[in-house]
Amino acid sequence: MKNTQVLLRNRPTGEPSETDFEVVETEIPSPGPGQVLVRAHFLSLDPYMRGRMSDAKSYAKPVALGEVMEGATVGEVVESNDPRFGEGDLVAGSKGWQRFSVADGDALRKVDTGIAPLSTYTGLLGMPGLTAWVGLEDIGQPKPGETVVVSAASGAVGQVAGQIAKARGARVIGVAGGQAKCDFVVKELCFDACLDHRGDLDAQLDKACPDGIDVYWENVGGKTQHAVFPRFRDFGRMVMCGMISQYNTAPGADTSKAEPGPNLGAVVRKRLRIQGFIVFDTGWQRYGRFLAEMDGMIRAGQLKWKEDVVEGLERAPRAFIGLLRGENFGKLVVKI
Ligand SMILES: NC(=O)c1ccc[n+]([C@@H]2O[C@H](COP(=O)([O-])OP(=O)(O)OC[C@H]3O[C@@H](n4cnc5c(N)ncnc54)[C@H](OP(=O)(O)O)[C@@H]3O)[C@@H](O)[C@H]2O)c1
Repeated sequence: MKNTQVLLRNRPTGEPSETDFEVVETEIPSPGPGQVLVRAHFLSLDPYMRGRMSDAKSYAKPVALGEVMEGATVGEVVESNDPRFGEGDLVAGSKGWQRFSVADGDALRKVDTGIAPLSTYTGLLGMPGLTAWVGLEDIGQPKPGETVVVSAASGAVGQVAGQIAKARGARVIGVAGGQAKCDFVVKELCFDACLDHRGDLDAQLDKACPDGIDVYWENVGGKTQHAVFPRFRDFGRMVMCGMISQYNTAPGADTSKAEPGPNLGAVVRKRLRIQGFIVFDTGWQRYGRFLAEMDGMIRAGQLKWKEDVVEGLERAPRAFIGLLRGENFGKLVVKI
């Protein structure tokens, strides 16, 4: 048997294309002392990967040209030179877009599929779910009766953020692209409403949030941010998780025709808090608390999830390009 890997071939300007990636067959690596050979079953596809394709200065190093694309996987131990892991153990780690990988034991985490299926450790119980929990714990801090608006509400982070806010007693309004996503957010995830950003968002927000917005979970930026911002109540919080609508904007691109940012005068007048965060800063240190809370919510029937599963590593580049166009419906994951 051979290994399958997806390499970064070019650094795209603007929207990536499939030719920026290359799918190759290589030898399966052998684990060295203290290392573990893992066969991945699922690969997580996430918006941050667009940043790793670029060599612009960022909070993390870019993927080098010709290297395996970065990404989190969950899979099974095939061979172990670390006494903490045995053949057949299910583990999560960041081993990239490839079927087989070797990892130091310290870089792997055993996962418990008694809580939820293996694939959820790429989404609900993985980095995106942890992101939702950290952002609400540290910045959003929704209180009972407050109004929370969540953009990209049916996506990996949004679906978890909204359900946690709901469990904490807030009124939760989603924003998503299209009727099918909105129906899912209300009927399955039990948000109080979901607004379609392809329609007149101002009018929909007026109706859904007549008394204003206490917490805005920002995943997208652009026109959704513009519509939400003037509706903040005093002491509102804006959780700056991401702005996916900008990720394909090439560095140095002509943004003179882009919409201007919101008027920050309101930050003073309304005593708003706008804070960005990166889940890696302190998130994994608190993973145990997060997992215990998610386990409790799943058992109480308060937490559902939707995955958009693509079959085959060779389809990962196309699926990733679609993620940046809003084509995914639920947490995007590749079944290997
Ligand atoms: N700060 C952190 O540590 C951290 C960690 C993880 C993720 N994030 C950020 O969280 C956000 C959501 O990530 P995710 O993994 O949960 O992705 P996701 O929501 O599962 O998928 C992306 C969604 O964004 C929307 N979208 C895509 N392109 C768009 C565009 N051009 N304009 C407006 N909306 C667009 C689409 O939803 P609709 O069709 O509903 O619009 C799409 O389904 C991203 O900004 C990501 O970078 C941040």
